[in-house]
Amino acid sequence: MGLGHGHGGAAVKHRALKLVRRLRHVNGSARIADIPMGSSFRLAVIGGDGIGPEVTRAALRVLDAAERRFGFSTVREELGWSSARYVESTSRITPEDIDGLRAFDVILFGAIGDPRAARGVVERDVILGMRRRLDLYVNLRPVVAYDDRLVPLKGKRAADIDLVVVRENTEDVYGQTGWVTGRGKDEVAGVPMRFTRPGIERVVRYAFELARTRPERHLTLVDKANAIPVQELWRRIFDEIGEEFGDVTRDAMYVDAACMWLVLRPEQFDTIVTTNLFGDIITDLGAAICGGLGVAASGNINPGNVSMFEPVHGSAPKYAGKGVASPVGSIGAVALMLEYLGQSDASRAIEDAVRDGLRGGRIKGVEAGSQKTDEVANIIAMAVAG
Ligand code: IPM
Ligand code: MN
Repeated sequence: MGLGHGHGGAAVKHRALKLVRRLRHVNGSARIADIPMGSSFRLAVIGGDGIGPEVTRAALRVLDAAERRFGFSTVREELGWSSARYVESTSRITPEDIDGLRAFDVILFGAIGDPRAARGVVERDVILGMRRRLDLYVNLRPVVAYDDRLVPLKGKRAADIDLVVVRENTEDVYGQTGWVTGRGKDEVAGVPMRFTRPGIERVVRYAFELARTRPERHLTLVDKANAIPVQELWRRIFDEIGEEFGDVTRDAMYVDAACMWLVLRPEQFDTIVTTNLFGDIITDLGAAICGGLGVAASGNINPGNVSMFEPVHGSAPKYAGKGVASPVGSIGAVALMLEYLGQSDASRAIEDAVRDGLRGGRIKGVEAGSQKTDEVANIIAMAVAG
């Protein structure tokens, strides 16, 4: 996991094995049952909009190389979901479409969003739709600097930035549409910042399990419980569950302070667990301190069930079709996906290839335009092929 040095490996691997067992049970046709456990995975590919399809294609080349070297396979199905249908028609991607994804083990997602479509509608239907409908309650976002020259912080080096953010992915202000009432000066808009005990418990438990496998075995809760007293629930649950994890040290920090410390002293963080909204915000900051949105990858996980992996960047329409977007985020998403599937060696080989490519200078950067998308994919695929 960026993407990882295997952090989270144990917890995630354990669940990946369960997942395979479930598949054999549900889909126990003789042919599938004959395949040794863990060697074949059903993969849905959603390239989406803008640079999404091209970075996804590049990442799949790296996946091809990993499959050949490490002896597993994927059965891929490409889904043509994009904003085009929102621009050209009134048809939308529906909850039933999303239910169709349950037939897969994992989803590799590119990016979605088109300035010609109404703001946020397609993102909410597709991205938030998958997260909510498939109950992908963990948003796993490693913040790992690959090379010193990508770190924009004065006096900091790549070695100072190695943390992972566990963002709650189904509740908070993201959980509902809210309301607007009144007109003119009486117009009022609101949306509840809603958390449930089970919703917090499951993600906090996941974060403690992950922290247990991390270098520092330290978990930081990021919230705003001083100004938003309902977030006291996070503090209470964090302490309750923390008592079960005697081998993990813990502390809590307000989100504003966390932003400051991520910039000033990123080395103090190991594992972070936080709310959906704050996790969204701090992980863009996290990407920035590692060289920009182009490097960051994310796993949207429901342990043991179909899970979705994506680069953190969006569709970047101005670079679409030019072949200059960096595929590093999408390739990182493949690495996270393979770790989730229990293919840790393959995952690590991809991460190492990305890191070595950047450190050795063959990969020139992670900004759009620094190098051709395909050239970067080839460098990484060749290194993975061994
Ligand atoms: C992300 C994105 C999404 C979010 C948007 C596109 C709805 O910013 O994955 O971080 O806010 O979660
Ligand atoms: Mn975001």
